[in-house]
Amino acid sequence: MVLGTQHATSTLQSGGRPVAQPMQETLLEALQQHLAMELNASSAYWALAVWFAERELRGFSRTFKEESDQERNHAGLFADYLVVRGQPVALGSINAPKQVWNDI
Ligand SMILES: [Fe+2]
Repeated sequence: MVLGTQHATSTLQSGGRPVAQPMQETLLEALQQHLAMELNASSAYWALAVWFAERELRGFSRTFKEESDQERNHAGLFADYLVVRGQPVALGSINAPKQVWNDI
């Protein structure tokens, strides 16, 4: 299980193995793109968390770490959905996030 969602996890556990179900190619591509967007958002928030940590702004850093976790979890929801539909989960690449800012 990728990152676990209550619904997708229970579907897999109670329903057994995932079964491939037909899905329009455009829908599959859109879901894959959205999954990638969530992972990139997670990376961007993580970069902000690091930037704030480097400046000992711990509260801001903690907030952005939590945001990063949330975005990664969102990606997991899409991955879990694709798995239970028996569709491929293409993680693709994550863009290097911006890490330089002049000030807060
Ligand atoms: Fe999200």
